[in-house]
Amino acid sequence: MDFRYMFSFVLLFILGHEGLLMAEGLACNWGTRATHPLPPHIVVQLMKDNGFDKVKLFEAEPEVMKALGHSNLQVMLGIPNDFLAALASSVRVAEEWVSQNVSSYISTTGVDIRYVAVGNEPFLKTYNGTFLQTTFPALKNIQAALIKAGLGRQVKITIPLNADVYTTDTGLPSGGEFRSDIHSLMLSIIKFLSENGASLTINIYPFLSLYDDPHFPVDYAFFSGNASPIIDGSITYTNVFEANYDTLIWALEKNGFPSLPVIVGEIGWPTDGNSNANLEYARRFNQGLLSRVTQGQGTPKRPTPPDIYLFGLIDEDAKSVAPGNFERHWGIFYYDGTIKYSLDLGNNRTLVPAKGVKYLARQWCIMAPEANILDPNLPQNIDTACTYADCTSLGYGSSCGELDARGNVSYAFNMYYQTQNQQKGYCQFSNLSVITNIDPSPKSNCRFEIMIDIGKHEQARRPTTSSAGGRELNSVISIAFLLAYLIVICCLL
Ligand SMILES: *[C@@H]1O[C@H](CO)[C@@H](O)[C@H](O)[C@H]1NC(C)=O
Ligand SMILES: *[C@@H]1O[C@H](CO)[C@@H](O)[C@H](O)[C@H]1NC(C)=O
Ligand SMILES: *[C@@H]1O[C@H](CO)[C@@H](O)[C@H](O)[C@H]1NC(C)=O
Ligand SMILES: *[C@@H]1O[C@H](CO)[C@@H](O)[C@H](O)[C@H]1NC(C)=O
Ligand SMILES: *[C@@H]1O[C@H](CO)[C@@H](O)[C@H](O)[C@H]1NC(C)=O
Repeated sequence: MDFRYMFSFVLLFILGHEGLLMAEGLACNWGTRATHPLPPHIVVQLMKDNGFDKVKLFEAEPEVMKALGHSNLQVMLGIPNDFLAALASSVRVAEEWVSQNVSSYISTTGVDIRYVAVGNEPFLKTYNGTFLQTTFPALKNIQAALIKAGLGRQVKITIPLNADVYTTDTGLPSGGEFRSDIHSLMLSIIKFLSENGASLTINIYPFLSLYDDPHFPVDYAFFSGNASPIIDGSITYTNVFEANYDTLIWALEKNGFPSLPVIVGEIGWPTDGNSNANLEYARRFNQGLLSRVTQGQGTPKRPTPPDIYLFGLIDEDAKSVAPGNFERHWGIFYYDGTIKYSLDLGNNRTLVPAKGVKYLARQWCIMAPEANILDPNLPQNIDTACTYADCTSLGYGSSCGELDARGNVSYAFNMYYQTQNQQKGYCQFSNLSVITNIDPSPKSNCRFEIMIDIGKHEQARRPTTSSAGGRELNSVISIAFLLAYLIVICCLL
C-alpha cells in the first residue's frame, strides 16, 4: 500500500532472553501527515514514556529531528520516493543530502541516526515501475556518500519494501520467490545490502489480506493460534504474518542469502474507516504482535526475531485515502496522543497518553436544532466540510457509522470547524449550524473531536465567500497573516 506520506512511529523492541531482559524497547513509525500534528517534543516524550527506543521517519523534518536530538531514540530516517531520481542522477546530490540530513543532525543536533531508508515501497505494483530505474542507483549513491562522510559503519542503508516484492506459486511459504518482473533487480539490491552489512526491510500488513479478500479466514490474520493451519512440509502455520515473513526467508534462501538480516519496517492494524478496522481487532492484533516481540519469538523458518517497527504511533488525518478510509487511523494513539485501547507492553507496563497537550476551547459546531434536514443548502455545505476535514469515521462500519442523518451533518460540521481551529466564521454553513459547549459525542466509540491548539485560532477571520475555494484561500490568508504578525513581533523585539 502507499504509505509514502505516513507519519509514523516505529516501535522497536530490544529483545532479551526469556523474561530476564524483557522488552527493553519498542520501535514505531512516526508519520506527520496530519492537520494538527502534536508538537514533536511531546511525541518524543510519548515514545519514551511508552518504552519506544527506535523510531522510523519518512523524511527529515527539521522540527522532528531537533526534538529527537539527545533523546536516546535510535532513528531510521526515510527518503521520499520523489527524491530518488535526483539521488540516482549524481553522487553529489547524495552527498548534499547526507551532509544536510544525516551528518549535521548527528554532529550538531545529537540525533542517533542508525539507518537511512532509501525510498518507501518504491516497487509497489501500483507505481507501475516509476521507481524501478532509480532506486538502486540512489541506494548506491547514498551508501557512497555515507562512507565519504565517515559514517559507513554507524549508519546503515536499507530500502523499505512492500511484501508484494515476493510471492509464492504454491500458496505455501516454501514456494517463496521474488516477483518475476523485478527478480534480477531484487538480487542485485540484496547482494549490495549484504556486502554492506545492511538489512532488508519489509512491510507486512495482515489487515490488508483481510481487507482485500472477503473470504480471508479472519483468525488467520491474528496470532491466537485458532485458525485452521496451513501445512508446509514439516511446518504448521496458524497466522499470515509468519507465513508471509517465511515466504521471504525462503526466497532469500533459494537465491543464496539465507541469513540476510530482515527488519519489519511497518506492521499494524487500523481502528476506523472499515468494518474490519476497529478497536477490538486492532488491540487483538497489536497485542499479539507485541507479545511475540517481548517474548523474543521468531518464525518457524527464522527463529531469531526481527526488529519490528509498529505502524504507527499516531493517527494522521491528512493522509491520502486512496488505499481506503482506514488509512488515517493506523495509530495506537489518536491524533492527540490519547489512548485508543489498552496494550500490555510487557514488564507490567501499559500505555501512557501524551502529556502537556493543549486543546482548543471545549466547544463544538453542530447542526442547528431548528435547521431542516431537507434544506437545499445542506449537501453543498457537507461537501465543503468533508472536502477540507476528515469524515472517514462516518462510513459504513466505521466508528460514527451509526449516527442518524442529523448526527452525520453535525459530525461533518464539527470536523471542519475544528480542523479550521475553531476560527470565527467556520461554523456558519448557511446558518444551518450552531456552536455548543455540550459534547455531542454519542455513547459509543464515535468521537466528536476537539482539535489541539496549534496557535491558529487567534487569527479569527470570516470567510469572504461561502465557497470551498474561498475558505481554503482564507486559511492561506490566515497563515500569511500569522507570518506577518510574527515578523512584526520580531521587529519589535
Ligand atoms: C533533506 O531532506 C529534506 C526532507 O526530505 C529535503 O526536503 C531536503 O531537500 C534534503 N536536503 C538536501 C540537501 O537534499
Ligand atoms: C498506473 O497505471 C494505471 C493503469 O494504466 C493508471 O490508472 C495509474 O494511474 C498509474 N499509476 C501511476 C502511479 O502512474
Ligand atoms: C505486575 O503487577 C501486579 C500487580 O501490581 C503484580 O502482582 C505482579 O507481580 C506484577 N508482575 C510482574 C511480572 O512484575
Ligand atoms: C452518514 O454519512 C455517511 C457518509 O457520508 C453515509 O454513508 C451515511 O449514509 C449517512 N447516514 C445517514 C443516516 O444519513
Ligand atoms: C444567515 O442569517 C443572517 C441573520 O439572520 C442573515 O442576514 C443571512 O442572510 C443568513 N445567511 C444565509 C446564507 O442564509
